[in-house]
Amino acid sequence: MIKELVFATNNVHKIEEVAFAVGDQFKILSLKDIGFNEEIQETGTTFKANASIKTHRIFNKFGLDCFGDDSGLEIEALYGEPGVFSARYAGEHGNHEANIKRVLDQLEGVSNRKAQFKTVISLLWKGREFWFEGIVTGAIRTTLCGKHGFGYDPIFQPDGYNESFAEMSLEKKNSISHRGKALKQLIAFLQTL
Ligand code: IMP
Repeated sequence: MIKELVFATNNVHKIEEVAFAVGDQFKILSLKDIGFNEEIQETGTTFKANASIKTHRIFNKFGLDCFGDDSGLEIEALYGEPGVFSARYAGEHGNHEANIKRVLDQLEGVSNRKAQFKTVISLLWKGREFWFEGIVTGAIRTTLCGKHGFGYDPIFQPDGYNESFAEMSLEKKNSISHRGKALKQLIAFLQTL
């Protein structure tokens, strides 16, 4: 029997990626699919808390099995910033150009360029919560490179590669990315249910 699982997002690309990866065993529903049109405020101070806020909101309202994710960039020399503020580091939500500029300005003349992307997924299954985490380590480049991807991709170079995330194909990025790793764990777990 096909099981239904809500992904607490309206990001069509994320839904498609997960639906493709889980195959026939699960039907993935978006927030729109279940008629949830409210904004979920990400008020947590960690990715884990924010992922959990999303799933609890849906479970408390609908009683449906669901999962949600939260991701961001952590830069060592900036004590983990932008972290949970990644999407709005320069003020306005989703202004990637301004966010990148702020990061590069902050790191001007700084030799420690170490950074990592992290994704945390919260899964609420039959009322029990499970977490999955994916990390990719790398460094912040001094200039932007590449046209693919989104967010901080043009300035993030994963360890072991000579190209930024934005220079990679989506397939290649997904195979090593924080989100890809966390999703892989989630999917392996779902297949045991
Ligand atoms: P979200 O939780 O996946 O929506 O990510 C929040 C923010 O983190 C995004 O708006 C981006 O600024 C940043 N971010 C997360 N994942 C990536 C990525 O794979 N590449 C570049 N930026 C990312």
